[in-house]
Amino acid sequence: MRMYDIIAKKRDGIELTKDEISFSVKGYTNGNIPDYQFSALLMAIFLRGMNKRETVDLTMAMVESGDRMDLSSIDGIKVDKHSTGGVGDKTTLVLAPLVAAAGIPVAKMSGRGLGHTGGTIDKLESIPGFNTQLDQKNFLDSVKKINIAIAGQTGNLVPADKKIYALRDVTATVNNISLIASSIMSKKIAAGSDAILLDVKTGNGAFMKDIDAAFNLAQEMVDIGKGINKEIIAVISDMNQPLGYAIGNSLEVIEAIETLKGVGPQDLTDLCITLGAYMLMLGKKVDSIEAGKEIAKNQINSGKALKKLSELIESQNGNKAVINNYDLLPKAKYITKIYADFEGYVEHIDTEKIGIASLITGAGRVTKESAIDLSAGIILHKKVGDRVFKEQAIATIYANDKAKIEETKQLILSSYYMTEIPVKPNQLIYGIVTKEGMQKF
Ligand code: URA
Repeated sequence: MRMYDIIAKKRDGIELTKDEISFSVKGYTNGNIPDYQFSALLMAIFLRGMNKRETVDLTMAMVESGDRMDLSSIDGIKVDKHSTGGVGDKTTLVLAPLVAAAGIPVAKMSGRGLGHTGGTIDKLESIPGFNTQLDQKNFLDSVKKINIAIAGQTGNLVPADKKIYALRDVTATVNNISLIASSIMSKKIAAGSDAILLDVKTGNGAFMKDIDAAFNLAQEMVDIGKGINKEIIAVISDMNQPLGYAIGNSLEVIEAIETLKGVGPQDLTDLCITLGAYMLMLGKKVDSIEAGKEIAKNQINSGKALKKLSELIESQNGNKAVINNYDLLPKAKYITKIYADFEGYVEHIDTEKIGIASLITGAGRVTKESAIDLSAGIILHKKVGDRVFKEQAIATIYANDKAKIEETKQLILSSYYMTEIPVKPNQLIYGIVTKEGMQKF
């Protein structure tokens, strides 16, 4: 088999065989196929597309490039969750303990943030002592003992994706549905769960800005699941404004704890209850979404989900006293309120700009190597549909570097688009895709 022929075939719009896909991925991962040839193949895929069978084969070729987590020693149906990323998205911090408290084993591997979106591992590391670097044994033991563990990636999972993603990034081939779906799904499949809930974000702060593109991506990922007999549900949710009010690591931990105490923001609470209900369905704990929502709400109202978070923190060597004493979390030196120089109703928020503003405070990473300031970030006081009066506080900036405050402030102010006419709040969930089909709400 020759890479030249595979590139030419895809260039001419001809379907690739499973062996050709596997040969290309294996060869590129082990260094036998050079960047320039794999780049050419990526561009041919980008321009010609891949059909469903090719996308499944690409996904599985990537899965087979490295280790796979074996969760079979854990009893019960293991349900994973993945968000395509957004600003202020701290759902895992709420959802993972919530479903674990309801009896679903959660063996969750999470990532760090990059660019304007945050990562669960950074957020958890703002809890003093919290160890996110568990080895495989401790990770599995924790799930067996308390039904939950959340850690950074253990083992050499999907090395093909690391190499291919980096190449896509510099060859203008990121934005292809088969490449995105196989990249996300290969990592989830290698993580070893029995079923997966996907939270596909759409809107101006999301990877998928366009709602139809988000549904298509969701469908593609559910179809990959169908192709390998793994049950997947995708929920398409709003990212036309940050989720909740807090953006930044320790600020988001506080908001997640408040949500588990039953006093969190409405959008975050509602989303977690809905996602939790679908996870309970995937885990065969309920057979309707309504029953799932009841159980999810109960985990919050009874305090069981909060107790599970406390157990998780303790089990991973963190200081569980943070739950009742937020002063134990990293704290920024400068806390600055931003006042509106406009008035009216919030019509629109440039979410990506807010994400970048939070990055400038130090809460995010510009490159993979950048250090992160766990105490920094932003708390919004106004969201879409809210009335704003002149001189009213619309946000608070948390920073340790005084020089960054003015730039952050200007970015926040320019992220708000106002109107004099009352505005309806954003719809939170646009629909779902399951193996039975697509439903738009
Ligand atoms: N996230 C991923 O993991 N992969 C992509 O290709 C895009 C978003």
